[in-house]
Amino acid sequence: MRKYTDISTQDPIDRPTWVDGIDNPYLHGPYTPVVSEVTAIDLKVNAGKVPDDLYGAYMRQGPNPIFEPKGPYHWFDGDGMVHGMYFRDGRASYIRKWTQTRALHDEIEHGRVELSGIMGPYDISRVAGRENAAMNPDYCKDTANTTLNLHNGKLLAAWYNSGRIHALDPLTLETSGEETFHGGLDTSMNAHGKVDVRTNEYINYGYADFQPWLTYYVIGADGRVKHKTRIDLPGPRLPHDTTITPNYTILHDFPLFHDPALLSKTGHRVVQFRRDLPSRFGVLPRYGTQEQVRWFEFEPGYVLHMVNAWEEGDWIIMDGCFQPDPTIRRDPSEGPLSSMLAYLRYKGHLRRWRMNLKTGECSEEQLDDLNVEFCLPDMDLYGVKSRYSYHQLIPTDLQTLAFEGLVKYDHEKGTREIYHYPRGWFPSETAFSKSTRGGDEDQGYCVTLATNIADYQSEAWIFDAKNITAGPITRIAVPGRVPAGFHASWCYGRDLWPAAATQRSRVAA
Ligand SMILES: [Fe+2]
Repeated sequence: MRKYTDISTQDPIDRPTWVDGIDNPYLHGPYTPVVSEVTAIDLKVNAGKVPDDLYGAYMRQGPNPIFEPKGPYHWFDGDGMVHGMYFRDGRASYIRKWTQTRALHDEIEHGRVELSGIMGPYDISRVAGRENAAMNPDYCKDTANTTLNLHNGKLLAAWYNSGRIHALDPLTLETSGEETFHGGLDTSMNAHGKVDVRTNEYINYGYADFQPWLTYYVIGADGRVKHKTRIDLPGPRLPHDTTITPNYTILHDFPLFHDPALLSKTGHRVVQFRRDLPSRFGVLPRYGTQEQVRWFEFEPGYVLHMVNAWEEGDWIIMDGCFQPDPTIRRDPSEGPLSSMLAYLRYKGHLRRWRMNLKTGECSEEQLDDLNVEFCLPDMDLYGVKSRYSYHQLIPTDLQTLAFEGLVKYDHEKGTREIYHYPRGWFPSETAFSKSTRGGDEDQGYCVTLATNIADYQSEAWIFDAKNITAGPITRIAVPGRVPAGFHASWCYGRDLWPAAATQRSRVAA
């Protein structure tokens, strides 16, 4: 049965359902929120065809606020909305749905936003006297709007500022509830956990403005906490990512953080770059404890996203997008939004770090000079050496964060290729999907969702990963508009439709 709901005319065009009293650029143009949920199957293909060896779903999380915020709107404050594009048997379907967070339920019940967003101020009295159990979502709105990971049959939505994990049905995007991993999770959890497909473990940690600064978890393939340990840090930090290898997890301690005393006194986080302190990476055995962490020191700076890490003998090798000067340079003319706008203006490059676990030796090198971020390899290769990674090229002359091109790195040859997006198009982070036919590491596709602000129509784009410079080989009409957002994940069909996989293997047998 064909079910196709075309709601494109219902989505507001550069007209948010509310404004925050400020001409906030993250509420206009490609960032304009949409106002409804959509389910549509068997989508119209505008150009090319859906490859029959593309099997799985491109999932993108992002902010889509419903109510006017308490205080100025930060792009990170928008209620999480997942855009899922499913590919199977040469056909495509699409769902977009809000993630049903505790904060969103409260807002719908009360008709207004209850908690401050990223820019505060925070009512710290909400956690007074219980600092050891306090976590950031207790006083800062947790939107679950940042990342998605498929683990143990659940799509896990997580938040930038270390929040509650929300479990979604990966086939309907319905929120089933807050995920505690059978009661084993008693802190918040960060956005960028990693799934090791070799063990089906989910590895992540929580961090907070109050003690404990960092709590590390390994969730087993059965969805239960397999390992948990507290890691000491010099104070509250703002880690954003992590990397894994088969035997280790690499934790972050960057010199970009806030003064907790000032937070308690003023209700504001004032984040500062401490150029006098090093960047530190802590190499922790996967099931290790605080005493087993090996800390390595590097040039001060900050990393939002790592590409990958792997082991070579006694060495841990890790690639990521490094910001050598993350100083938040406010432009006073941008008024109360100046801190947010400055924080989101990215300048960095691809860098490699090496750490020797036997000798303690370490080194780092800049690999390229392009301003790239939002980097993904084939997510099946997290923890093992990957030859290719796919990044977004970020312009330095825009007021807001946007992507101007897709960059493919070949780390074996030391080369890169760039596809510059057509003017007026705003794509999301791309995710790589390996062909079901196997083949070379880059035998597959890069997938994204893109919106053209000339007519506010959106498309799903499919690139041949072996030839990204040719541009998208397939363009699929998306019913409704896809606002700019945060992270994409690729969910392989074998994990989305395991019953089908079992059936296929039986037929093959
Ligand atoms: Fe991120």
